[in-house]
Amino acid sequence: MVKKTCKGQINMNVVLSRRLLSLVFVLVTPVSAPAAELPSMRRTGVLPLPRHTSIQEGGFAVDGKFRLSLLGYQDPRLFRCADRFLRRLEQKIGIPLAPEPISDPGEAAFEIHCSAPANPIQGIGDDESYRLEVTSLRAHLSAPTPLGVIRGLETVLQLVELDGQSFFLPLVTIEDQPRFCWRGLLVDVCRHWMPLEVIKRNLDAMAAVKMNVFHWHLSDDQGFRVESKLFPKLHQLGSDGNYYSQDEIRDALAYARDRGIRVIPEFDMPGHTSAWLAAYPELAAAPGPYRIARTWGVFDPCMDPTQEKLYDFLDSFIGEMASLFPDEYFHIGGDEVNGRQWSTSPTILAFKKRRHIKDNRELQAYFNQRLAAILGKYGKRIIGWDEILRPGLAQSVIIQSWRGHAFLADSVRQGYGGILSHGYYLDHMETAAMHYKVDPLGEDAADLSEPEKARILGGEACMWGEFVAPENIDSRIWPRTAAIAERLWSSPEVNDVQDMYRRLERVAQELELLGLTHRTSYRHMLQRISGDQNFGTLKTLADLLQPVGIGTRHRTRKYTSMTPLNRLVDAVSPESATARLFADLVDRALTHQHGLRNELQEIRHLLIRWRDNHEHLSAIANHSFLLTEAIPLSETVQKLSNTGLCALDYVDSGQKPAKAWHTEQLELLDLADKPQAELLPAIVASIKRLVAAASASLQAPNR
Ligand code: ACM
Repeated sequence: MVKKTCKGQINMNVVLSRRLLSLVFVLVTPVSAPAAELPSMRRTGVLPLPRHTSIQEGGFAVDGKFRLSLLGYQDPRLFRCADRFLRRLEQKIGIPLAPEPISDPGEAAFEIHCSAPANPIQGIGDDESYRLEVTSLRAHLSAPTPLGVIRGLETVLQLVELDGQSFFLPLVTIEDQPRFCWRGLLVDVCRHWMPLEVIKRNLDAMAAVKMNVFHWHLSDDQGFRVESKLFPKLHQLGSDGNYYSQDEIRDALAYARDRGIRVIPEFDMPGHTSAWLAAYPELAAAPGPYRIARTWGVFDPCMDPTQEKLYDFLDSFIGEMASLFPDEYFHIGGDEVNGRQWSTSPTILAFKKRRHIKDNRELQAYFNQRLAAILGKYGKRIIGWDEILRPGLAQSVIIQSWRGHAFLADSVRQGYGGILSHGYYLDHMETAAMHYKVDPLGEDAADLSEPEKARILGGEACMWGEFVAPENIDSRIWPRTAAIAERLWSSPEVNDVQDMYRRLERVAQELELLGLTHRTSYRHMLQRISGDQNFGTLKTLADLLQPVGIGTRHRTRKYTSMTPLNRLVDAVSPESATARLFADLVDRALTHQHGLRNELQEIRHLLIRWRDNHEHLSAIANHSFLLTEAIPLSETVQKLSNTGLCALDYVDSGQKPAKAWHTEQLELLDLADKPQAELLPAIVASIKRLVAAASASLQAPNR
């Protein structure tokens, strides 16, 4: 394909340059000398980075002779963990390994030593530390409890490198423990149903990056997702048949425990309860009937906190769930109660008056106190969204801050534990770099005293379910959540964004091998939209796009939970790696005083490829109606590429463009930066930089 740039230059279409690709697949080689701590670990693929590492020249061979022994305290969980480790390792190195740990440590070059059992129920502050020492002859992993072994074995798997023909572990000494004890992921299985296999593979991924709390959002307006034997109408009428049986819940709990992950169930109350009320309308603050919601937002249906029969019901229900879910904490939700039903019910208004309850927030606090008494009876402590922060809560309560960091600070000032989710909402479609910068103990916590800071327990990434289906949920969670996992595990000084991305790429590859589908589903979804033969053409465009966040999507068209999530916006990754690498390339080229010839050339090649792709894509536009909405975006990318090419011509020639050209390009860039089909081209900022460089009349490089 031959195309003209704005200044009449002829350029040949080229394939994506090797250089850009090589940025994606960085092969790590052993260091040649003892090196300083952080820089040396940054050369490995370990994520999250351990607390202390020293690394020496050389390696420990990982080959068919690799034998593992378990010493000290032993239990079935540790054996299962060792077995998973061996199976993953042999898959990696392609050599069969001994089927199980051997009992004679003399024969094993990899020794695991565990000192003592973990707590029967994993909880806040459990010891997750481990020590790993690898010499050229032996590797030794020791930990006070099985939790440390579970964490340490993930590090070992991430350390395995390929050196030409053979696999090895670098010679390291690592002493590691987490910075925060609460490193969670919320998955909402209500807006869209997620079968057990989705949950299990996400637990695998969490364990791979040392996360330790799975927050299972199990009830909401759109679904009640757990079997209740005492109140079967909850799952029968509240779930469209999509719920977890209690056996499945126990299966997931065992799976999580094997991976050192606590499971916190959330039953959101007293709002977000349409699905409960579809089954038991007598619990509501206004007469029904109620139905499972098919859309999302903040709805009126709400429990009636003035009725004793509600507390009788909740006492039995919570008793049942408390015996199913072993964790000490039980999430009561508490968010987004609009109070409309409470403000219009004569009996509720009379109750408030009688009890001198001045407003609905106080009424919710009354409800929470009643709930706390029930939960206390079953040995449970409360965690809830930041709306529950009201005077009178027990000091054991944990507040989950989603509306802003200020709520986290307020919570710990008032003596409560706090975790941060504001800044970790995955449905906002932010970059991993943005999430990585959000620190529960960052600037917003600077004024807190040390005891207040100590009450900040960590954070949780939140995967709300409005725009995810089993097919694409992994791509919305991973690999970005791994950046959050590092923020919550590693020291705050670990903040090199480029290096995070380098390791994130390796994690992303490993997670696919572990069974996650964030990359394969992208491919499959694009293939479905374009047809197999045209997949590459669509991918060239899709790689340059980013979906808008939930707010914009919600405003753009009318969605229900029945709307298929099969469009380009559902397939495209939340963050464009191609655009990020392109931005790096532009940055390197333009920060050099005279531009860098290779980089400028490479930018040109990429822009030509992206520009010419439009013609190919237009030719297949009628393949499917799902493809048609890609065409205007493709045209925008073509225009952006042309602008970039023009800018490069100016940069190359050293001529200054006319002011009118500059103004015209800025208008085009503004237009390009508006969503089309709920997607945005991710290269706008880089093209803007090229235009600015052209207008500043950057000198052409020496040739
Ligand atoms: C929430 O996002 N409503 C907790």
